[in-house]
Amino acid sequence: MTAREQWDSDADDAGALWWRWAVIYQIYPRSFADSDSDGVGDLRGIIGKLDYLADTLGVDAIWCGPLYRSPQVDFGYDISDHTDIDPVFGTLEDFDALIAAAHQRGLKVIVDFVPNHTSAEHPWFAESRSSRTAAKRDWYVWADSAPGGGPPSNWTSEQGGSTWEFDETTGQWYLHSFNRAQPDVNWRCPQLRKAMLGVLRFWLDRGVDGFRIDALHMIAKDPGLTDNPVRENAEPNPTDRQHPDFDSQWHVHDRMHPDLHDHIREIRALLAEHSARTGQERIAIGEIEAMPWESWVSFLGDGGTHFNFNFNFVETPWEPAALRAGVEEQEAALPAGAWPNYVLSNHDRPRLATRNGSRSVRIAAMLLLTLRGTPTLYYGDELGLADLPIPEEKWLDPLGRDQARATMPWTSRGNGGFDSGPADAAPWLPVSDEYLRLSVQSQLTEPDSVLNLYRRLLALRRSEPALRHGAFRALDLRAEQCMGYLRSTRRQELAVLLNFGDADTTVGLPGRGRVLLSADVPSAVAEHALRQRFLVRGHSGLLVELDDVVPRQRDA
Ligand code: NOJ
Ligand code: MG
Repeated sequence: MTAREQWDSDADDAGALWWRWAVIYQIYPRSFADSDSDGVGDLRGIIGKLDYLADTLGVDAIWCGPLYRSPQVDFGYDISDHTDIDPVFGTLEDFDALIAAAHQRGLKVIVDFVPNHTSAEHPWFAESRSSRTAAKRDWYVWADSAPGGGPPSNWTSEQGGSTWEFDETTGQWYLHSFNRAQPDVNWRCPQLRKAMLGVLRFWLDRGVDGFRIDALHMIAKDPGLTDNPVRENAEPNPTDRQHPDFDSQWHVHDRMHPDLHDHIREIRALLAEHSARTGQERIAIGEIEAMPWESWVSFLGDGGTHFNFNFNFVETPWEPAALRAGVEEQEAALPAGAWPNYVLSNHDRPRLATRNGSRSVRIAAMLLLTLRGTPTLYYGDELGLADLPIPEEKWLDPLGRDQARATMPWTSRGNGGFDSGPADAAPWLPVSDEYLRLSVQSQLTEPDSVLNLYRRLLALRRSEPALRHGAFRALDLRAEQCMGYLRSTRRQELAVLLNFGDADTTVGLPGRGRVLLSADVPSAVAEHALRQRFLVRGHSGLLVELDDVVPRQRDA
């Protein structure tokens, strides 16, 4: 079988490979929809918007950020009870209702699994820190001061400063790769591993379709606590709100320790066993920071993740050559049978409209939804939202990430339809006029809105096999400001043409075709003529269906 025939035969959209063809929509639960009007989004709010997601928009899966009981120091990534829902989001019954209502509409539900740390308020940690001989002492990472005093190693946390916190009660230091309110657990301890696998089992039994696994590259550390080498002349990355201290050292001893693959194998085995028993593939998605591709791909496979979030485009300059290189690098790095992924925004980074400017959003929509791989769409990006500017003194997240987490504008008045219950607390973040102007309600009535572009693209992903599973091949367009590529199966060949520049540009294709979709505003009268050269407007793009599958590419 040629590679291309393999792709065609893999086109089993509903079966074990559903996660390859699904478009995943990331919901930030605090900010999506607030059913009881206490100012914070919740599970019943999400349930009320499932028709929008499944039908109006047309995505296939939702990923809900952490819903578990938590003091919310890191807005849910600090879990104090892994098997309960935080009251601010609702109850376990509400969660069951979400699963049932989503599944009824054919939507898969992915939830967060946070294996690297818990909240300092977790009962496991309370017991662990109580004495050096506590039964759960070994569930976390404790160490003595370095000879001569001070922290046990030079490791720095993701959020800056030492990764170690001294604990007076027992005179030892505990490890926290993130905030000091998030102590790292110890995956070398068999009881801890068993408890964490129990957490996965609990949510699998409630019907979740997969897990987005937080900070997966961090769960094993060097047991010898060797110092990390210092990184000379590191340049801070301005788009990287999440890691103010990321570049100060090479994290070779506290992240990416080879032993973590043993732990991932255990996680995957559990998912495989559950999938086999229920006949539904349950997936593991790795949240793995951008890093050399060799390390990133080492997480993939039958003993690893189904796919990893690829944050490459979040850090790549918004230029055709750089983006093309990013796609080709991922395509080249993936081992046989592995599957690509693309992310353009999430809850940790500035939104794409803020990073790349509002003129980038139409091209971004086309890129995200026409590349080969599972797209992850961040709530609100389908409206072209930029970050909500919040002055530093009002940040609720110490890193200012709340600017990319503003409440979803459903309507154009008041609180943007975020609240729908009887109480009337103000939303947890302010609502801006710009957000109200870009609301779902107003964009649905404008034919050329960004939302309607997303809807058209999502519909095409469902109807055109080449968009879901066709092979990718970059085109040399001889126009610097343009990026072009083909998506091909044996039966269908589509070309994507994107113009990042201001000037309209004419580009040629290897064969003749017809426009299937244009991102122009106002949308050009659909141009069905068969042609080989196409005018691509500035900051716009075209999706063209080629008349014939270009023969010389067939067996590439
Ligand atoms: C990655 C999450 O996306 C981020 O929001 C969180 O702060 C850290 N992991 C720690 O859990
Ligand atoms: Mg609420």
